[in-house]
Amino acid sequence: MSINILGIESSCDDTSAAIISDGLLLSNVIASQSVHEEYGGVVPELASRAHQQNIVPVVDAALRRASLRPSDLSAIAFTRGPGLLGSLLVGTSFAKGMSLGLRIPIIDVNHLHAHVLSHFIRNNPDDRVPQFPYLCLLVSGGNSQIILVRSHSDMEILGQTIDDAAGEAFDKCAKVMGLPYPGGPHIDRLAAQGDPLRFRFARPHIAGLDYSFSGLKTSFLYTLRYALAGDPGFIEANKADLAASLQHTIIEILIDKLRKAIRQTRVATVAIGGGVSANSGVREAVAQLCREEGVEAFIPQRAFTTDNAAMVAIAGHFKYLDKDFCSYSEAPFARVTV
Ligand code: KG4
Repeated sequence: MSINILGIESSCDDTSAAIISDGLLLSNVIASQSVHEEYGGVVPELASRAHQQNIVPVVDAALRRASLRPSDLSAIAFTRGPGLLGSLLVGTSFAKGMSLGLRIPIIDVNHLHAHVLSHFIRNNPDDRVPQFPYLCLLVSGGNSQIILVRSHSDMEILGQTIDDAAGEAFDKCAKVMGLPYPGGPHIDRLAAQGDPLRFRFARPHIAGLDYSFSGLKTSFLYTLRYALAGDPGFIEANKADLAASLQHTIIEILIDKLRKAIRQTRVATVAIGGGVSANSGVREAVAQLCREEGVEAFIPQRAFTTDNAAMVAIAGHFKYLDKDFCSYSEAPFARVTV
């Protein structure tokens, strides 16, 4: 009999459900919430309400696309945290209720583990997956970490941001430029036409493998304020160069520590994950770094860089094999690291 895992993701503003059968992806349905656009960021209360509306149709669509009935499921994996508590409560409560109704186990998944394990999502049995141990650069709106992955369940953070995440730097700088939220993809698009060396912004000087992006954010803000005082049309006239120079700086910061981590750990494989790993410049730079250092690069499909339930389902699949289930008394958590 097949092991069929339903994954549910509701940590932020995407409601998603996916089915992994015997380790292979059968379906991955994502309902994004447009309600936040006019506010320039995710509004937690609106996010949980939208999850409440979306969760039944999304789970239903994932099952239908996989041609499975609820009774075919072996277990339900759900994102327990970190994330917005009200959003997490919707997915957690739904998973508990459905598992009680079907009398199948529930599996709690750490959202960050799921991002790291997204490279194990396969459509075909012969798709390549990373060999342990490998390094994962996890870069999202809330995290920037270099993680040593020894197994599906054994992960160690070697370095992480001491202030803002890389995604936060993209989004906040984009906001200063008047771009819509989330700004990362807009910076990516504009950067393709700009000069990455036109403007120079502050880079952090901190020891070890930790990151910092708050100084860059401030430096970007002050550059713009100063320039705008002399020329109100400065941003409009220099949009592409500003975006390209910002992206170039963020990439340099990310790559510098990742190179150090490769040399320190001597791993043979490097993977990236999280929303910022959708960035064209980041993807190119990591591929280039891996060529230079002679290690294999795993760059995820763009669909698996941002929040999705396929990564929750695959993380659940490995926990299912370990019989690592959770009890109904487990509550979601807002904050946690890997
Ligand atoms: O992993 P994610 O979907 O959400 C969490 O933080 O959990 O990441 C969202 C972040 C946002 O900061 C967004 O601007 C950024 O990923 N992002 C990008 C790109 N696509 C998404 N940043 C730069 N370039 C992109 N193409």
